[in-house]
Amino acid sequence: MKIINVVGARPNFIKIAPLLEEYKKWPKIKSLLVHTGQHYDFNMSQRFFDELKISKPDYNLGIGSGSHAQQTARIMLSFEKVCIKEKPDLVVVVGDVNSTVACALVAKKMNINVAHVEAGLRSFDESMPEEINRILTDHLSDFLFVTEESGKKNLQNENIPPKKIFFVGNIMIDSLVKNLREINNRKIIENLNLNKKDYLVITFHRPSNVENKEILSKLLGYIKDLSKDMVIVFPIHPRTKKALEDYKLKEIGGYLKNIKVTEPLGYLDFISLVKNSKGVLTDSGGVQEETTFLGVPCITLRENTERPITIKRGTNHLISNIHEEGVLEKIKNLIENFKPRVKNPEKWDGKTAERILKVIVKSASEES
Ligand code: UD1
Ligand code: UDP
Repeated sequence: MKIINVVGARPNFIKIAPLLEEYKKWPKIKSLLVHTGQHYDFNMSQRFFDELKISKPDYNLGIGSGSHAQQTARIMLSFEKVCIKEKPDLVVVVGDVNSTVACALVAKKMNINVAHVEAGLRSFDESMPEEINRILTDHLSDFLFVTEESGKKNLQNENIPPKKIFFVGNIMIDSLVKNLREINNRKIIENLNLNKKDYLVITFHRPSNVENKEILSKLLGYIKDLSKDMVIVFPIHPRTKKALEDYKLKEIGGYLKNIKVTEPLGYLDFISLVKNSKGVLTDSGGVQEETTFLGVPCITLRENTERPITIKRGTNHLISNIHEEGVLEKIKNLIENFKPRVKNPEKWDGKTAERILKVIVKSASEES
């Protein structure tokens, strides 16, 4: 059985690593890796290959940045050539980025089965590019691997046949569990001169937050105010960096001594930083889940989340209106009075890759 695995953007690398490791237990599977090149900076790509011990991709399509249509179309044209040459039995896509939907569509049109890891998540907000990618990818897929109960329900509500849906847990957490020892040995806290549980981590990159000057300025204002009371570490995503330059808001961190602005961090340093922090302010999907697993308070500056289990668990809180009175007090209050409500989500246990491979192998043996 030949399987092509697709990655393109930062969160994809974290999701594919445990699966690539798991294939080694199944010598009859030939597994290939395709990197679309959606993310390409060292800190957004190669660094994750190095740290997560992902071997060099069999194909790097070198697509790079562009508008949604340009990026998706270029990936499709290039990936089609790979599928024609390799004739895989299955294409595995992960997450909700443009590389995910582009490759799922190519494969399905060539009558190649598609497996979607992290299926079923819904924000019910179609202004989010990821929501469109999720819906389309799920409806193209033959195996839908779900991270949390809500995913199963969402897919059933969209009339996806239950026999295609498999609740396997969260593969992001496989990576976290597998790397915990290395994470605990990182020296990022010392290197940045921080004290444990005494600083806030901030990440922003959603277009809804960073591609609007008024909203971005407002967020920067909050960060400045928060920095009066606590140290802040702010690893900047390239989209955010570009927006800060375009809007001439780059001074952030330049003169504020309590804000440590960094390049995007490597995975091990980033998780170590989050694990030892007092709390996290973010709009990231993956970070909402990692803080849930680590039991770290997370405040998500978004109107919705496609990951409702993180809210139920009590680690994640949404701030849906950043213009609301008292937002700063709310943030501080949530961090100070934090108490997780329920236990860790079901099947977020480091064994998701194993469950996924068992399903794939079982289905292949039933077919042959
Ligand atoms: C993409 C995903 C998003 C995901 C995020 C993870 C889509 C539609 N969006 O958003 O779901 O949460 O990745 O980080 O697929 N850039 C660089 N260097 C890089 C990559 C990007 O400078 O290595 C800059 C370019 O200016 C580019 C911009 O960042 O135009 C945005 O990159 P892109 O991959 O289009 O979207 P992300 O915001 O990274
Ligand atoms: N991450 C990292 N360094 C950083 C910021 C994030 O290693 O500076 C990791 C983190 O584990 C996170 C993952 O990258 O869960 C995905 O990040 P991102 O927020 O870019 O994507 P999303 O999950 O929102 O799609």
